Amino acid sequence: MKSLYGVIGSPIAHSMSPLIHNDAFLQKGVDAYYHAFHVDPEELETAVAGMRALGVNGFNVTIPHKEAIIPLLDRVEDAALQIGAVNTVVNRNGELIGYNTDGRGFVEALKEVVKLKDKHVLIIGAGGAARAIFYTLALEEGVQIDICNRTVSKAEDLIKEFSLERIARSITVDQAAREIQRYDVVVQTTSVGMHPKINDIPLPLKSIKHHAVFSDIIYNPIETKLLQEAKSIGAITQNGIHMFAYQAALAFEIWTGKFPDTVRMKKLVEEHLG
Ligand code: ATR
Repeated sequence: MKSLYGVIGSPIAHSMSPLIHNDAFLQKGVDAYYHAFHVDPEELETAVAGMRALGVNGFNVTIPHKEAIIPLLDRVEDAALQIGAVNTVVNRNGELIGYNTDGRGFVEALKEVVKLKDKHVLIIGAGGAARAIFYTLALEEGVQIDICNRTVSKAEDLIKEFSLERIARSITVDQAAREIQRYDVVVQTTSVGMHPKINDIPLPLKSIKHHAVFSDIIYNPIETKLLQEAKSIGAITQNGIHMFAYQAALAFEIWTGKFPDTVRMKKLVEEHLG
């Protein structure tokens, strides 16, 4: 019998997850179908009960349910618990288990363009996406990180919460802009520059470190103003399509035990957005 997977969120109509997962099922010879389900917050509990009752094999979780779903699951892996967000659920013999593939997805994508050992990393932002990325880069990869956020206290709280004062510090956006030449890798996790405000930039750029890598998790537009400017002064850049593909690939692996072709996934997304 065909297996059933999906994604729950709101809004969900423009999700590209069905496109890449259904293609990956075909590519990998998995007899399964992936569907996007619109679920409003007040229906989350019922929706999860429905997934359980119907024996749905697994599903992704997106905005606004990544935190709220945690108490509704039977088990949540430690990294997702620490991050405080689940984006992937697998149904193992009736037990719903939550994972977070966002942080790991981002880092796997980043490793395609830079070796992280001994690199100085700046994370711009301290929201939900930054949290997953910071957790993975700092705790799992042991990278030295500065975080700059409009609301400085949020970055400070994040570092304190994970007891990472040893390898991470909070700085102001102004300080990050002044000292941008120090960073080998700059990770942009805020919504600044996202469609429709495509001319916004989270910090001004003058000169940057030679061979610096700039990675922005935004993929609409495909190239943010920050990436355009960084590229024009010599940076290696990576847009949000890479993280999107890798978080999906890692979810696919949790569900099927097979790792899909991420290059193909990225191409499909690019074609869809382009
Ligand atoms: P997400 O889950 O996508 O990370 P979030 O948790 O709401 O969303 O976090 C949004 C991030 O973008 C935060 O770092 C936020 O900064 P604040 O903590 O100061 O709110 C940042 N952000 C959003 N709009 C911004 C803006 N106009 N200028 C600067 N930072 C902004």
